[in-house]
Parts: sequence; C-alpha cells; structure tokens
Amino acid sequence: MTDAAKFLPYGRHRVDEDDVAAVAAALRGDFLTTGPRVEEFETEFARATGARHAVACNSGTAALHLAVLAQDLGSGVAAVVPTMTFLATANVVRMTGAEVVFADVDPDTGLMTPQTFKAAIERGRASGAKLKLALPVHLCGQVCDMAGLAEVARAHDVALVEDACHALGVHHVGATTHSDAACFSTHPVKAIATAEGGVVTTADAAMAARMRRLRNHGMTREPEDFQNRDLAFDRNAPNPWYYEMAEMGWNYRIPDVLCALGISQLKKLPVFNARRSEIAALYDRRLSPLAPIIRPVPHGDQAHGWHLYAVLIDFKALGMTRGRVMDWLKSRNIGSQVQYIPVHRQPYYSKRYGALQLPGAEAYYARCLSLPMFVAMSDADVVRVADALAALVAEQAGQRFKERA
Ligand SMILES: Cc1ncc(COP(=O)(O)O)c(C=O)c1O
Repeated sequence: MTDAAKFLPYGRHRVDEDDVAAVAAALRGDFLTTGPRVEEFETEFARATGARHAVACNSGTAALHLAVLAQDLGSGVAAVVPTMTFLATANVVRMTGAEVVFADVDPDTGLMTPQTFKAAIERGRASGAKLKLALPVHLCGQVCDMAGLAEVARAHDVALVEDACHALGVHHVGATTHSDAACFSTHPVKAIATAEGGVVTTADAAMAARMRRLRNHGMTREPEDFQNRDLAFDRNAPNPWYYEMAEMGWNYRIPDVLCALGISQLKKLPVFNARRSEIAALYDRRLSPLAPIIRPVPHGDQAHGWHLYAVLIDFKALGMTRGRVMDWLKSRNIGSQVQYIPVHRQPYYSKRYGALQLPGAEAYYARCLSLPMFVAMSDADVVRVADALAALVAEQAGQRFKERA
C-alpha cells in the first residue's frame, strides 16, 4: 500500500509484539480478573507520574467517578467543569447527584483559566449553588495553570480533581501537588492503552483506600473496618467468609490481563511521548506558512502531552465549512475530529441549566480541528497531512480569485 492510500485516523494505539507477549503470559496465568498485575500496574503508574498512590479501574470515566465520589459532595452541592471537555467530566458529577456549573475557557487553548474559573464560581454562587469541587481538564495534553487554579480554589474553599485523561507522562501531572487527585484514561487513543482502563492518582492514603473499596462494590475484607461485630467475629477472630459493605460502590475493577498490557505499555511511555513531541514540532514547522487561516493551538514552550494535535482554522477566511474540510481530508485518507462540542450545549445539560453564554468556548469550538496524531505516524505521514492542508488553502485561494475576476 502506498503511503497516500493508508488512512490516517486522528488517533490510535500502538501495540507491539512485547505487549502481545505480556498479555499472552497473563492469559496463561491464574488470574484473568483481579490479580497481582493490578497492584504492579498501580505501582508502576505511581512511579511514572510521581504520585504517592495510584488506583487502577476500568475506564477514565470510572476514575473520575471514583475521585468525585471520594469528595462526598452530597445533594444540593455543585462542581465547576470547563465546558470544553468530553461528556464524562460533567457526567460523573451528575452521577453523584451533584449539579454542574460550567466554566468558560480560553478561546485559543480551550483551557479553563484562573479567570474563567473565578467567573464560574461567582456565577454559580450568585445563583445559589453550593460549590465544593472543580475539575480542570488538561485538554489535548496542555497543562492547566494548576498553581493559579489552586489559588482561586483555596480562596473559595473548593477542592480540585484534575481530569488528566489527555496528559499522562507530562511533567508533574499526576503528582497532585495542587489537587486532591488526578484521573487518567488508558483508552486506545490516549498516551498508553489497556483497551478500556483508567487510573486515579492521589497523595492521600485514606482516599486511595476508599477508592479501592468503591471500585469493588464498597466492599471490605479488612477486620478493622468491620462494623457488624456480631456477624464478623467468632470469639475475636474474623470469620473467614466475612465481608462488609458500609457504603454504595460499583464494579469498576480492571482485569489483570489488561494490567499486563498497561505494565508493558508504561515502559514505553517516555519513548511514546518523545515521538508525539517530534510529530508536533514537525506539524508546527510545516503548518506555519498557512497562518493566519490555519494555525496550531498556541503552546509556547509549555509542557505538553500531545495527546491531540489541534489547529485553529478560520473557516470563513478559508471559504469552506468545517464539515466540508473534514470530508475533503477524508477523501485524501486523512482523519480529523472535533474535540469537543461544548458540553453545556448538549440537550441534557441545556434543558437542565438553560442557554449559557460562554464566548471563549464558542470561539474555540468554532475553529478547532484535531489532525492525526499517534506514535506510529511517520514523518512522511505528517508531511502528507500538512501538504494536503496547504493544497486546500491554495485551492480555496484560487477559487476566491476566480470568483472575483
Ligand atoms: C477529557 C476526557 N475525560 C474523560 C474521558 C473518559 O475516559 P474513558 O473513555 O476512558 O472513560 C475522556 C475519554 O475520551 C476524555 O477525553
């Protein structure tokens, strides 16, 4: 197959023979569900992120849900969520019964800033919301101004849980210096893959232990936790069959087999992230002549995980709608995606909270497009995408010239 005939998706996993061998070894072992590889994956994940504790579960959504559950929001309480994110960040708040207050984002990066965070807190409090939590999102692998957000959070007595699903392997993300927890996804388009999977990191040992119970039906087998002493003990010795549930939990367990894949993939995380950075730098160089019609999301020298490579396109100046651009790219075997539709615009949320004016998010959404970005991309693939966009810009300019003549 020639390179041009190969479809380039906007993202995909990279699984090598050593990953396959690791999974096969797990399949030949004694544990398919919870087994020793779960703890090993957690230990390696904590090491890779600089975290004290890592709790693995079966999706990024489950990771966010566990971290939010551990905040004990209670009813009548609300959490701030930037609207430029995947549905899950807001949905996990609703899954606990709490309400969502959507924050606006920077129009060029799509990130919640200390200013948009503060504005959301003030808007939420003015409408009577009891705000207890916020979930900053490290969109595309960019890192939010966590020190700035933490200052606002402290001033308003709001806890922080990071949605770091896009930012595994980025300097300091996961160490939770400025937050209670950070949540990661190991879905195949992310930095490493375990098929489905997620991890919460935290510095709080009690929170980690509680999330481990919550991921397994809220169940404990630790004698010191038992409350029904008459059922639990026989003359001071714990009954061997006994377990107890003191609060509602879920089945969010990640299988041993998937942790085998995670352990193998984690070893390659630095190499994967280095390749993503090379691809981004090559895109930056090749796309620079297309500004201002097409320009990369500005990133300066900041740490970046490059989960996604997003560009901002002035579709009006280009003379083509986003849908037609995506179709045009697809006809040249190039995938693209829009990350994301502002969550407050989803019918579920607009029916619940009414029409909100979040102009930064609207401006970002109107222009963003994610181009192919995955570890197995070659330099030639990147050049093919950039050249296709250059050809599109030239074709459209020619069209405009003809129309004027
Ligand atoms: C920002 C963000 N948060 C949460 C999630 C949920 O992760 P998962 O698909 O592993 O449940 C995703 C997944 O795409 C995401 O992009």
